[in-house]
Amino acid sequence: MSSPVESAKKLAAYRAVDENFPENAKVIGIGSGSTVIYVAERIGQLKNKDSFTCIPTGFQSKQLIIDNGLKLGAIEQFPDIDIAFDGADEVDPQLNLIKGGGACLFQEKLVAAAAKKFIVVADYRKESKKLGESWRQGVPIEIVPNSYAKVTQALYALGAKKVDLRQGGKAKAGPVITDNNNFLLDADFGEIEDPEKLHVQIKLLVGVVDTGLFTQMASKAYFGEESGEVTLWKV
Ligand code: 5RP
Repeated sequence: MSSPVESAKKLAAYRAVDENFPENAKVIGIGSGSTVIYVAERIGQLKNKDSFTCIPTGFQSKQLIIDNGLKLGAIEQFPDIDIAFDGADEVDPQLNLIKGGGACLFQEKLVAAAAKKFIVVADYRKESKKLGESWRQGVPIEIVPNSYAKVTQALYALGAKKVDLRQGGKAKAGPVITDNNNFLLDADFGEIEDPEKLHVQIKLLVGVVDTGLFTQMASKAYFGEESGEVTLWKV
C-alpha cells in the first residue's frame, strides 16, 4: 500500500492533468522530481499521446517521457510550450515557489518560462504561508563551478544565514554536478519577505546561472492532502 504522501502526490498530479491538459495541445513541458512521475504516468494514459511532443527539464524527466511512451522533443526545437507541469519544494499563497531540491532548477525555469501555462503539483507538505518557513535547507542556486567561493561570500553579504555547496553525499564524493555541468549552492535566508527582490539580487551576482525562486510563473498549484482531497490554489 502506498504511503499518505505518495497517494497525495498521485492525486494532485492526476487531478492537475485531468483538469488542465489542453485538448489540442502540441507541446507539453514535463518537470522533475517524485510528484511529476505521476504527471507523466497520467499523460502516458492519454489516447492521443502521439499527437503532442513532451519537453523535458533534465535527465530524469527525459527518462519519464521515454518510459511512458511519450514523444520526446527538445526546448531548442520547441521554444513555445502550451502547458508545463512541475513539482515544487515550497509554495506560498501568491504561488511563489522554491524549486531545485532535485537539482534541476535551471531547465525547469527555462521550460516554465517558455510555457503559456505553468501548473504546480505537490503534496500537502509544500503548502506554506511564506517561502523559507518550511523548506529550511535554503534557496537552491545554480552557479558556474569556479564562482562558488565568490558567490558564497556575496550571498552572506546579501543576508544569508548559511550557505552550503551541495554535496553528493554517499552517492558521490564532492559536489553535486547539475545536468548543465554546474554546481549548486543552498542559501538559507530564513523566511523570505520579498521573493522577487531576493531573486533579482542573487541573479545579478556574477557566476549565478539562476535561482530556485520562481515568481509570477505558476497560475495554479494542486496539493494532494492527507485526507485524500485535493486543494487548488490559483492566482
Ligand atoms: C527538482 C524540483 C522538484 O520539482 C522539487 O524538488 C519537488 O520534488 P518532489 O515532487 O520530489 O517533491 O524542483 O529540481
